[in-house]
Amino acid sequence: MEVVIAPAEELAVHAADAIETLLRRDPATVLGLATGSSPLKVYDELARRHREEGLSFEQARGFMLDEYVGLPAEHPQRYRNVIETEIASRVEWPADQVLGPDGLAEDLPAACAAYEQAIKDAGGVDLQILGIGTDGHIAFNEPGSSLASRTRIKTLTHQTRVDNARFFDDDVEQVPTHCLTQGLGTIMEARHLVLLATGRGKAEAVHQLVEGPISAMWPGTVMQMHPHATVLVDDAAASRLQLGDYYRQTFASKPGWQGL
Ligand code: F6R
Repeated sequence: MEVVIAPAEELAVHAADAIETLLRRDPATVLGLATGSSPLKVYDELARRHREEGLSFEQARGFMLDEYVGLPAEHPQRYRNVIETEIASRVEWPADQVLGPDGLAEDLPAACAAYEQAIKDAGGVDLQILGIGTDGHIAFNEPGSSLASRTRIKTLTHQTRVDNARFFDDDVEQVPTHCLTQGLGTIMEARHLVLLATGRGKAEAVHQLVEGPISAMWPGTVMQMHPHATVLVDDAAASRLQLGDYYRQTFASKPGWQGL
């Protein structure tokens, strides 16, 4: 696992560089997309590169991590709409090439199985962008999630609903109680995991993710088993890392030709 500690703007450039490298090598790259605050600067940087430098998403495919169950199709916080607003429309990404689990399906387990199959049919995810919850969830794999789980229905913890109330007029009651989420086993099949975390509120989750024992109680710790995982954090999110100085020194002395 590589840990990079830098200001948020720099982290976004590192993540965008990794994505651009893939897209230039293979325009039909498959990207895994997260919602929430953490990836927003990355999406801004990709939109800038699209606008100013012609970075193309025309042939790329995208798979979202998760979706709320039951939010109406036009609800602005439905993750399919958030992804459309924050990235897809800004890089002129054809709508039918960006998929998410269908939180409005009548048969939710069937929608989860179909989603797993769609990822498989696309050849798997090349680079998965991730954030982390204050309770250690990645996607919406809340504490206690099986480390081998696949796309399925999950109940959101009260903590996650409180954290996400800021997107719902600060009213926790408006935050859905259930979601569909890629499982930890699904996420672990992506070829490169890139997790972003900023702010002191994420410091304990980041410490556990990087340095804690692998445990379903801190679901992100499963990333320690991934052969190519990158953790991009600012000083505040890195503040509880025991080996922070070592990670800083390692990245500072990394040869320039080695990307993330
Ligand atoms: C969202 C997702 C979640 C968020 C996490 C952090 O698609 O998968 O795991 O990444 O809740 O959210 P933010 O970035 O808003 O702090």
